[in-house]
Amino acid sequence: MMESSSNEATGSIVARGVIAREPGEPGVVEEFTIDPPGPGEALVRILASGVCHTDLSAKNGVFGTDAFPFLLGHEGAGIVERVGEGVTNVSPGDHVILAWRAPCGECRFCLAGQPHLCAASLNAEKRMRTMDGVTLTPILGIGTFCTHTLVHSKQCIPYDPALPPEQMSLIGCGVMTGVGAALYSAGVKPGTSVAVFGCGGVGDSVIMGSRIAGATTIIGVDIDPRKLEWAREFGATHTVNPTEGDPVEAIKAITGGHGVNYSFEAVGRPDTTLQAIFSRDLAGTCVIIGVAGPRSTLDELPLGKFFDLGGSLRVSWYGDCLPTRDFPMLAEWYKQGELDLDRVVTRIISLDESEEGFHAMERGETLRSVIRI
Ligand SMILES: NC(=O)c1ccc[n+]([C@@H]2O[C@H](COP(=O)([O-])OP(=O)(O)OC[C@H]3O[C@@H](n4cnc5c(N)ncnc54)[C@H](O)[C@@H]3O)[C@@H](O)[C@H]2O)c1
Ligand SMILES: [Zn+2]
Ligand SMILES: [Zn+2]
Repeated sequence: MMESSSNEATGSIVARGVIAREPGEPGVVEEFTIDPPGPGEALVRILASGVCHTDLSAKNGVFGTDAFPFLLGHEGAGIVERVGEGVTNVSPGDHVILAWRAPCGECRFCLAGQPHLCAASLNAEKRMRTMDGVTLTPILGIGTFCTHTLVHSKQCIPYDPALPPEQMSLIGCGVMTGVGAALYSAGVKPGTSVAVFGCGGVGDSVIMGSRIAGATTIIGVDIDPRKLEWAREFGATHTVNPTEGDPVEAIKAITGGHGVNYSFEAVGRPDTTLQAIFSRDLAGTCVIIGVAGPRSTLDELPLGKFFDLGGSLRVSWYGDCLPTRDFPMLAEWYKQGELDLDRVVTRIISLDESEEGFHAMERGETLRSVIRI
């Protein structure tokens, strides 16, 4: 366990975490200060954090350069250490998974009964600073590659402390996103067919979600043979490697010439987006999960062919989940052996090894490196 030191006069603490100061530069472990939790906020001691591709993208400047320096990490589990005024949903000592969506209850979507689309998700005020006084931007309003972080208490979803924090941390982003994309964004029905482009941590979670939903044909698509092997272990009934030929043709061949009922893009590239769109059967659903970033464009979408296919194309944020409803469900599925999170945790690393976690992801060696703090 990492100790923090505190300043008696202000109540602020000094924590340690991975900070990305400049786009494209390695994240470096630094000390930083955290003000005491304000009204509605919670100080959380992090136990474990998954390394998601979105951290790498943010570090590389995909979300713009204005928000640097970042406190990296957004897929975490920990223990509530202190709460601010008026917090009733969690108490110090609670083990919690951190959510990057905490519906506000007041925006136009929340008021219309669609809290999973909340446009003003709750975050703590930005009161974490580098030792030289620069305000940090925690990734997706959380920041989990660190000993401690400050979040809104509604971002804290309690879990059974008997469960391992490494596996629980993954529910906070990648696993929830993938499973939710299958269950909610696509609404996969029993007996249907699915193709998943990109079999990383998120794509394999789409595969698990599709299996739980009862899909009978689940096609994993990835350029890395090792990823395809793992995809089968999570429930893919078929695999396709686009380096060996046109993946759309291969998917059609597997599905009697028709294409799939649901396709998922979990890479974040224009070419795989087009492949996902056109690997569908008539009236099929294509769900975009991968974050292509602001500079990517889809240059050639043949609109006639797109129209003739019918169906729908949609983007999924966070698998359209509601953390208060869905995190406990996924934890329970893990307990019951339905969700193989042990297999998603490919590697456990230390806080000082987060850069190595990114490199291992880039080399395709991991589904998730998990930082144990
Ligand atoms: N929408 C959301 O709410 C949300 C949430 C979490 C992550 N994401 C995004 O989802 C994507 C996947 O995240 P991840 O953590 O699983 O990443 P990852 O790096 O673990 O997985 C990506 C996979 O894509 C494969 N790939 C690369 N090029 C390919 C190609 N041309 N065809 C097929 N497969 C290819 C890689 O081999 C790898 O297995 C990222 O873009 C991430 O930012 C989105
Ligand atoms: Zn809202
Ligand atoms: Zn993520």
